[in-house]
Amino acid sequence: MTSPPVTREFRALLDVAVDAVIIIDHRGIIEAFNRAAERMFGYTMAEAIGTSVNRLMPEPHRSEHDRHIRRYLDSGVPHIIGIGRDVEACRRDGSSFPVNLAVGHIPDSDPPRFVGFLHDLTSRREAAEEQQRMQQRMASVSRLATMGEMAAAIGHEINQPLAAISNYAMACERLLEAEGTELAEVQAALRQISGQALRAAEIIRRVRNLVRAHEPRRAPADVNKLIEDLSVLIRSDARLSSVELVLDFAGNLPQIELDSIQIQQVLLNLIHNAIEALATASAGARQVIVRSRRLAAGEIEIRVIDSGPGVDPAIAGRIFDPFCTTKEQGTGLGLAISKSIVEAHRGRLEYHPNAPRGACFVITLPNAMESTP
Ligand SMILES: Nc1ncnc2c1ncn2[C@@H]1O[C@H](COP(=O)(O)OP(=O)(O)OP(=O)(O)O)[C@@H](O)[C@H]1O
Ligand SMILES: [Mg+2]
Repeated sequence: MTSPPVTREFRALLDVAVDAVIIIDHRGIIEAFNRAAERMFGYTMAEAIGTSVNRLMPEPHRSEHDRHIRRYLDSGVPHIIGIGRDVEACRRDGSSFPVNLAVGHIPDSDPPRFVGFLHDLTSRREAAEEQQRMQQRMASVSRLATMGEMAAAIGHEINQPLAAISNYAMACERLLEAEGTELAEVQAALRQISGQALRAAEIIRRVRNLVRAHEPRRAPADVNKLIEDLSVLIRSDARLSSVELVLDFAGNLPQIELDSIQIQQVLLNLIHNAIEALATASAGARQVIVRSRRLAAGEIEIRVIDSGPGVDPAIAGRIFDPFCTTKEQGTGLGLAISKSIVEAHRGRLEYHPNAPRGACFVITLPNAMESTP
């Protein structure tokens, strides 16, 4: 074991430093290890000195470290030397933690030696995580605030089927009391009652989905595959309405972190809307195109384009509002739910009229995996 060429004064100086200070030789063998380093890593100075510094780094850096030193010594081109940067370090117990590492080459040392200063960033990371948790909480609070505004609208929406149910029930009673009533008349009224009850239940089910502030269950996913899987469900629906479903995929899409079920629900809402819009279109090609592509910023964009009449300009500004609908049987929640899902993924959902006709809904999703170091 090489004895560390560190004087007593220098040792004392190292030990009062708040940050970890580690001196290594050209092979990466530790020559000095101060108190702060002992606290940070859980090794005593005696255990650390004479061993390789790479035990203080998690893989893959551990395996690459010797190569970095060699490359610097051969080429003189620094990879990290002279440049401070945030890296992961590894404690004695195997747990990893973030540090800012600044490395300097000790001048005129032969063989060359290096000194590393390490500043523990655990508390900074915790603060950032806490801030993110706060933001999520805020997002769900603001969603609830919107819900507050929605309460009146929900009441109104549910009231309609309830009033209808009550009317039909009274009609049934009258029909049953009257003489010569046809059974078919009663049956028709009962069918209306069950239909209206289903409609009320559907509104409640969808509102519940909208309120549920659950965090998306994210996993890396291939957006094209996700659309492909969904298209199996949609094709028969499209065929029934004589609509052609065209999938137009970019080939170079990276996997991104998302909740596949939720994003499929968004696509399903958009494609259903497109098919419904085409049902009212009189002439021309009935086409729904689902197109994926990668944007320069590393984001992924999915467009759902139809050749229908496009969104009625009179409601274009409100289509993402809950209960905004032009359909007899619509709840007007499809787009509101879709927007809240996409925004929970830190993405955007926008509408543009399509040229020469039709509607174009654009989902933009960030690539969270690419933005993490
Ligand atoms: N592709 C489209 N083309 C034309 N208009 C559209 C299109 N998509 C949505 N809209 C308009 O936006 C309104 C709101 O859509 P949204 O999906 O939120 O509710 P909905 O489709 O009416 O009801 P639900 O989704 O419950 O069936 C629709 O009623 C329709 O007027
Ligand atoms: Mg809809």
